[in-house]
Amino acid sequence: MQFQAAAQKKTKGINPFQFQIQKKVTGRYGAVVSAHPLASRVGLSILQQGGNAVDAAIAVQLALAVVHPSAGNIGGGGFFIARLSDGRTVALDYREKAPGRASRDMYLDSMGKPNMALSQDGRLSSGVPGTIAGLFASMKYAKLPFAKLIQPAIDLAEKGFTLTEKEAASLNGSKQEFQTTNSNPPVFVKEAGWKAGDTLIQRDLAGTLKRIRDLGQKGFYEGETARLIVAEMKKANGIIGYDDLKNYHAIERKPVQFNYKGYEIISMPLPSSGGLILQQCMKMVEDRNIGSLGFQSPAAVQLMVEAERRSFADRAKYLGDPDFVKVPLNTLVSATYLKERMKDFVPGLAGNSKSIGAGMIPHESMETTHLSVVDKWGNAVSATTTLNNGYGSKTVIEGAGFIMNDEMDDFSVKPGVPNMFGAIGGEANAIAPGKRMLSSMTPAIVLKNHRPYLVTGTPGGTTIPTSVFQTILNIIEFNLSTEDAVNLPKFHHQWLPDVIIVEQGFPAVTIEALHGMGYHTNKAGSIGRTELIRISNGTVEAVGDKRGDDDAEAY
Ligand code: GLY
Repeated sequence: MQFQAAAQKKTKGINPFQFQIQKKVTGRYGAVVSAHPLASRVGLSILQQGGNAVDAAIAVQLALAVVHPSAGNIGGGGFFIARLSDGRTVALDYREKAPGRASRDMYLDSMGKPNMALSQDGRLSSGVPGTIAGLFASMKYAKLPFAKLIQPAIDLAEKGFTLTEKEAASLNGSKQEFQTTNSNPPVFVKEAGWKAGDTLIQRDLAGTLKRIRDLGQKGFYEGETARLIVAEMKKANGIIGYDDLKNYHAIERKPVQFNYKGYEIISMPLPSSGGLILQQCMKMVEDRNIGSLGFQSPAAVQLMVEAERRSFADRAKYLGDPDFVKVPLNTLVSATYLKERMKDFVPGLAGNSKSIGAGMIPHESMETTHLSVVDKWGNAVSATTTLNNGYGSKTVIEGAGFIMNDEMDDFSVKPGVPNMFGAIGGEANAIAPGKRMLSSMTPAIVLKNHRPYLVTGTPGGTTIPTSVFQTILNIIEFNLSTEDAVNLPKFHHQWLPDVIIVEQGFPAVTIEALHGMGYHTNKAGSIGRTELIRISNGTVEAVGDKRGDDDAEAY
């Protein structure tokens, strides 16, 4: 695929008007995979200039905020995990927070009926953004100055870049919502419609990025940018105020870490449910010799589905922001508990979410984007960030040029009421001022012989942990190639609704066998956009998912 435009201005070794999408590449020293070729190339260039994986991850996230506006962001939040060459592990939480004026029933009408339009679109759906605080918190592990890492994003915003066919279609698909949500048509709206090859220039965003370059974190959370955010909120029903912005902090947490048949898996802890779901699912299948059942065999799919069912039932009941609720973490991952959870698993017979709920705990507490990076020193970074669904709240901060998230919908707006991903939550994930909403993002790193082996993650709402679960098993149990592990059709079960979602192209014979066991299935167009790096025998192999413009770079 090649995109060209008349203009031929270059952004330091990267031509934003003429680029190709590369799906698979191998190298010796380092690699970057992300949702956009220009962002991946920015990361590669940072590695080649002596930056480490953290430097590259910071630069890629900033570039994605420009070239992948549906999910890349500075108005959203995310999670970042790293395994450093000295053996340290890092988990950074820069998830959005509920504003101080948020309240438990803020999306319910006088009859107690949820109004999902308010939690999913417009100013009231936004949590306090965390991305910029997260990037500055990760600078502690970086080598290069921040000004160097943000400059490619500034250039891409200021001089523009060529839209791919998918991006043009995606922007056109949200045109009406952009028009109805914003008082003036934002830069993302083109009256005649975007087409592949058009140039998107974002001058207001460039100005915001320059303030961040020059003033640091305060260039976003205070001063002019904060003024523009608060002014945008005041235009309608937004409630984010100056204090919410000034008081936002990223938090360094203890990563989820567990062993699976000798591999060490590292992922994100709460407030993302992703790492915990991955751990529960992997440990529930670990002693059942799943590799011998065969890739996408009915028996293997059933086993994974039943693990997913039980894990998502626990998610709904027990998981929330650990700074606000007591989560019974030790029990949820204990071998005894997980063995007990699978006690009623019957091979060949569908489980039932009416009878299989959350486990008994003794007293104790869609659109997203992922990037994977490794460097020549052995550092690995896996980061997933989000605006929630495509283009988040569709609110573009006027004068600042960036899109605000609609992450408030990831809270349980009312116990038992599903969010946009159909996920049910309860008390543990109820809204409270300053609380972080539960996430499913699952950035993951797998170590083999104590060295990074796989670096992976994906967008996809609640399908994130189950896609990561499959990607890892596809490699270490079913011996698939990296390309097949990423690209072959995926499936998903999340307890409620009690149905297996199967991706287009999933083998009909397996679906038929699952129906025979008593399962219901629904077809999905596509599940996830997985970015995978494998390091083995001195070769770095990087794969970008075929489902999008995802691109892999290596050297
Ligand atoms: N907004 C999707 C997630 O955090 O899981």
